[in-house]
Amino acid sequence: MDTYAPLNIPPSDVPENVPLDRVFDVDAFNLAGIENGYQEACKRLQGPGIPNLIWTPRNGGHWIVTRGSMVREVLRDPARFSSGVIVLPKEAGEKYDLLPTRLDPPEHTEVRAVANKVLNLREIRRIEDPIREIAVELIEPLVALGHCDFSEDYAQKFPIRVFMKMVDLPMKDAALLKHYATQILRPDGADGTEMAVSVDKAVQGFYAYLDPVIDARRGGEGTDMITRVVNSQVNGEPISKVDALSLMANLLLAGLDTVVSFLSFVMLFLGRNPEHLKQLADDLSLIPHSVEELLRRFPIVSDARIIANDIEYDGVQLKRGDMIQVPTALSGLDEEMNDDPWKVVFGRKRPEHSTFGDGPHRCAGMHLARMEITITLHEWLSRIPSFRVAQSAAPRFSSGMVAMVEDVPLEWDAA
Ligand code: HEM
Repeated sequence: MDTYAPLNIPPSDVPENVPLDRVFDVDAFNLAGIENGYQEACKRLQGPGIPNLIWTPRNGGHWIVTRGSMVREVLRDPARFSSGVIVLPKEAGEKYDLLPTRLDPPEHTEVRAVANKVLNLREIRRIEDPIREIAVELIEPLVALGHCDFSEDYAQKFPIRVFMKMVDLPMKDAALLKHYATQILRPDGADGTEMAVSVDKAVQGFYAYLDPVIDARRGGEGTDMITRVVNSQVNGEPISKVDALSLMANLLLAGLDTVVSFLSFVMLFLGRNPEHLKQLADDLSLIPHSVEELLRRFPIVSDARIIANDIEYDGVQLKRGDMIQVPTALSGLDEEMNDDPWKVVFGRKRPEHSTFGDGPHRCAGMHLARMEITITLHEWLSRIPSFRVAQSAAPRFSSGMVAMVEDVPLEWDAA
């Protein structure tokens, strides 16, 4: 298995609480081996000889947990591992002040309730038909073509169309909002200071865009997500404009990027694995359960927590203000969490994963995400049951808070 070797650097270059045998050279924004796949690159962090908790001097210097059980432990314990800053590098993360992500309980609970109100399972089931219509509209014209770039022709369009409909915003604005989302999740910049500028600009961009929309929908009767959020209560009071802006910006951010990425990973896998593809295409009723296995096998989020107070963890002193990265990939892909985790087994009994996070911040949009993935697979496989990745394919993987794969050319025999 590919792995990392400890980094030999002078003790004066690491903080005094960092033991030298915990120091490894891991760049969260450019993982070693990323050219061969994001999950493959993450898995190197569980290679032989790598401690459960390591430290990298990259991106401002931060800790990384490398075991699935620790990913869960950290995410479930906001008293020790706070969400006050969740984006690396810390300097950029301090500019990312979106709700409810940056709050710890108890403050988190009331704001999170507003997100739950608009994204709970019952709400999502209500919009199943319009979501299906969007999927069909995008897939139908592709059938006779016999090929497409999945990422560009479907994944980049579908979740965005669904979301723009849910928030009742014009499709022409989607590209701008997507640009802001990308700059927050995979910011441009050679160092923390430059990345902080990119993140700050993008957050301010979201706010400037949403400001007049929120004013216009305050007091409105519409059933779209923005109207429902701006007319919600927090702690018995109408939600403040600042909080509504921050929450809506976060919902847009989360809704515009994650499913795009996840679907591209899944179709790349199915296009390269004809037996798995046939299994699903031959029996579409397998899809809902299989989605859980695919979520386990293709985790994409890797954010962080900030140490709330000096503590000892895994035999190491962590200092208040230290950042600790929590790659969700290291949960579902850990042998201690699932047998033979590298293998996709559609009948796997209970796929264990943290792909949607864990603890109080567990993904508020997971019902929407599951619905979008299930519908995509169902509608795609009923029209294009057999396809392959084009021989010329050279998928491009990138890592960051949300990993991405682009350039996923698929081919099939056109009817
Ligand atoms: C496959 C798709 C998705 C994945 C893998 C994913 C993953 C995650 C993860 C790991 C977190 C926890 C972050 C943390 O603990 O710091 C999270 C939070 C969140 N997600 Fe998702 N997500 C997905 C889709 C969505 C969608 C479609 C939405 C819709 C708006 C959404 C909305 C949110 C929100 C609002 C939070 C913050 C929750 C909180 O802080 O309490 N997500 N997501």
